[in-house]
Amino acid sequence: MITLRFHSIGDWESYVNMKSELIDLKAQKLILQGMVDDRAKELKQEIDKRERIEHEVAKLERLNIIGQLAAGLGHEVRNPMTTIRGFLQMLQNKTDLLTYKSYFDLMIEELDRTNSIITGFLSLAKNKPTEFKRQSLNKLLDNLFPLLLADAYNQGKKCVFEPGDLADLDIDTNEITQLVLNLARNGLEAMPLNGCLTINTYMEGECIVLRVSDEGTGIDAENLLKLGTPFFTTKESGTGLGLPMCFSIADRHNAAIEVKSDPDGTTFLVRFPQPMEMNIS
Ligand SMILES: Nc1ncnc2c1ncn2[C@@H]1O[C@H](COP(=O)(O)OP(=O)(O)O)[C@@H](O)[C@H]1O
Ligand SMILES: [Mg+2]
Repeated sequence: MITLRFHSIGDWESYVNMKSELIDLKAQKLILQGMVDDRAKELKQEIDKRERIEHEVAKLERLNIIGQLAAGLGHEVRNPMTTIRGFLQMLQNKTDLLTYKSYFDLMIEELDRTNSIITGFLSLAKNKPTEFKRQSLNKLLDNLFPLLLADAYNQGKKCVFEPGDLADLDIDTNEITQLVLNLARNGLEAMPLNGCLTINTYMEGECIVLRVSDEGTGIDAENLLKLGTPFFTTKESGTGLGLPMCFSIADRHNAAIEVKSDPDGTTFLVRFPQPMEMNIS
């Protein structure tokens, strides 16, 4: 036990003062610790945000390089391939070569697959001018819907389109058609028999939203991060170019793509900014 002895009132007063300063200091320390913790939390959030942005930038840079390569190579490689395909088709029907028919089929199939990879490459090329035209996204989807229905039907699956009330958009018909086809085909491929793919459109604040939602098995967290990376595919005969194409098209339309996925399905949301109103003079 510690016994304190004060020789004068002054001693006692300075002891009390010291004690209260100590208590103040402790309180200040607690406040400071709280501030440090808050700041550390903010910093962690900033670092996470920065990492996400860096990831996005790296993804866009990769797309850019791929695009430049595509522009140079794609056309040159396609022409000789068309010639080869033509000759293969001709030889395939010769009676003395009928025993090799399955080989010819395989060669033509592989050539077609190569061709679809090149088509994907070419769509990533930034030098292709985007032709914006103010139009109704719903009308574009209406025109495309029979094709999607046929795709779904052939795979024993369903597809519905629920258009919402929308303002018109400045979009490139071919590019947005390609984007919808890529998202819808991925959705269909991810679903078991009888699964239903839902495409709908709606307004969300100032944005026009295109939603493509499937009842597939979802995408795990690790693969979610890889979406949009050229050649990333989990399919045996996939090209891994469908989504990079979508991201590149969305980018040219100033649209943002959000992906939500769980084991019951995956939803792609494409948010287009509403076009600026034309000046009325
Ligand atoms: N709706 C979806 N459901 C589940 N996985 C998907 C979906 N969309 C994309 N993916 C995953 O992303 C990968 C890349 O897609 P994509 O770029 O279109 O290339 P591909 O379809 O040729 O594989 C797919 O292989 C698949 O693993
Ligand atoms: Mg695909």
